[in-house]
Amino acid sequence: MGQVYLCFAAPGFAWTVHRAAAGGTMNSPDGVWPGEAWLTPREASLFAEIKSPRHQRDWLAGRCAAKELIRDYIFQITGRALACSQIEILNDENGAPRPLLPLNLEISLAHSAGHGLAGLCAHSPLGVDLQQIRPVRSDLIRRVLSEHERAELEQHFAGNLVEGTLVFWALKEAAIKAQKERPAPALPQIAVTITAPSRAEIAVRDQRYSAQWGRWKEFIWAWAVS
Ligand SMILES: CC(C)(COP(=O)(O)OP(=O)(O)OC[C@H]1O[C@@H](n2cnc3c(N)ncnc32)[C@H](O)[C@@H]1OP(=O)(O)O)[C@@H](O)C(=O)NCCC(=O)NCCS
Repeated sequence: MGQVYLCFAAPGFAWTVHRAAAGGTMNSPDGVWPGEAWLTPREASLFAEIKSPRHQRDWLAGRCAAKELIRDYIFQITGRALACSQIEILNDENGAPRPLLPLNLEISLAHSAGHGLAGLCAHSPLGVDLQQIRPVRSDLIRRVLSEHERAELEQHFAGNLVEGTLVFWALKEAAIKAQKERPAPALPQIAVTITAPSRAEIAVRDQRYSAQWGRWKEFIWAWAVS
């Protein structure tokens, strides 16, 4: 498993880069909205095709987080300061984000309510997810979680089943993104085992993933990496 880096983008585009696996956190100064020049021409045309303002805002938050994360990573590794407009992130035929770079980097994106999360791992496929903490439908636990996971939910989240359900949901969505294959497995086919506080192992088909989750503002975030 490679080291996982995360970047969160909030409306107003303040970002924080977390060196997740190392356990440390680096706060870069609040980001300043860099204007349209930070998109490549192909990204700008993709953006122009998005009809809903809500989706536009989310898309920008995801791209902002991803570009800042890649910029930070490349600067740390090579000392080279890239402009955002030198990093192009398109989507492959399954929708997975694909950065066009000379380095082989795996990235994953999620966005919710105008907030963006990007994850990066140098060599291992990874997925990230972001879930706004909100009431969930009462049948969701039964629909999404296996009997074993429901027991884990009761054990680890006894005081807060809603937040716990969203943790399982985010972990499963992160694993779906790490796997990339389509059709995606149904959520009940993804087996989550909590191994320690904020840590889990996930089995999907014949793949195994290590995962972590946490809280940021009013969101649950999760990543899964093989
Ligand atoms: C891929 C999927 C997980 C995206 O989830 P979402 O909640 O729609 O959106 P998120 O904000 O979490 O993530 C969006 C990002 O996922 C990424 N993504 C899309 N398809 C992907 C794929 N096949 N593999 C990896 N990442 C993918 C994209 O980068 C996208 O952002 P972008 O379009 O701005 O580049 C979802 O569409 C999917 O396929 N789900 C299948 C499982 C399911 O049914 N879940 C519903 C829960 S009941």
